[in-house]
Amino acid sequence: MTHFLDIHTTSKDDLRAIIDSARAMKTARDGRPKGTPDDEAPLAGRMVALIFEKPSTRTRVSFDVGVRQMGGQTMVLSGREMQLGHGETIADTARVLSRYVDLIMIRTFEEATLQEMAEYATVPVINGLTNRTHPCQIMADILTYEEHRGPIAGKKVVWSGDGNNVCASFVHAAGQFGFDLTFTGPQTLDPEREWLDFARQQGVRAEIERDPHKAVEGADLVVTDTWVSMHDPESAKERRHNQLRGYQVNEELMAKAKPDALFMHCLPAHRNDEATSAVMDGPHSVIFDEAENRLHAQKAIMRWCLGV
Ligand code: CP
Repeated sequence: MTHFLDIHTTSKDDLRAIIDSARAMKTARDGRPKGTPDDEAPLAGRMVALIFEKPSTRTRVSFDVGVRQMGGQTMVLSGREMQLGHGETIADTARVLSRYVDLIMIRTFEEATLQEMAEYATVPVINGLTNRTHPCQIMADILTYEEHRGPIAGKKVVWSGDGNNVCASFVHAAGQFGFDLTFTGPQTLDPEREWLDFARQQGVRAEIERDPHKAVEGADLVVTDTWVSMHDPESAKERRHNQLRGYQVNEELMAKAKPDALFMHCLPAHRNDEATSAVMDGPHSVIFDEAENRLHAQKAIMRWCLGV
């Protein structure tokens, strides 16, 4: 069973093949209207379940459109409205869904839920975000970087802010795609040590620098994300803002990076908190290319999972 659960658990060769396939499929569409099918229909006759236990705009729409462009069909399921949200086990849900659909994408809270779904499903499972990681987003980000600047291997990426689930997948990608990553943020919000160790074991630099201005020196890419994630309590908001204010990505900070550095944010953003509108809408920003590339990267991930 070929699940796509995380970047660090997928081989380097497979990750590269997915990126190359995404780029080829994007090019082949040649700007045609979004609702028209691809030339090939690799998902013809396939049914895909998209399960959301958390809100989503990009993941929901990009998976749905991607399946349709490849000739398949989708059903979008809300965890709350399924028996899953009323006591049915993940294992039973996985076994039942596997009798109806060919592929499952799930966005959930606990990583254990994703893992149990993958253990009991007899069809491939894709991680559409957990509290711990967000691999589909980072595959889109790698595609985006390479479209603009060529190979990401050997580059310096700086993550500023909260060492959250999106940051975790960026750290995994550093190890798998061969780039250096510097995290800058308060100690209480550091990415997990285990992730940094994983990247280092692959032979890249994965560092922590508390001073954001020092951290971004020589950066090829500066990345941030919301200061309060979907799984964080609302009560954390004020404290987070106080802790993270110094890590805002603004024009002054971007000026310390390389002149041709890119800026990324996976969205949704809280404008003028984690990043200013001047940066988000400025010359370094590729945030809407990242959003578009969710579609292309995930189409390649689905084809890889199904071997089609
Ligand atoms: N970046 C991202 O995953 O967006 P959504 O929460 O809108 O899916």
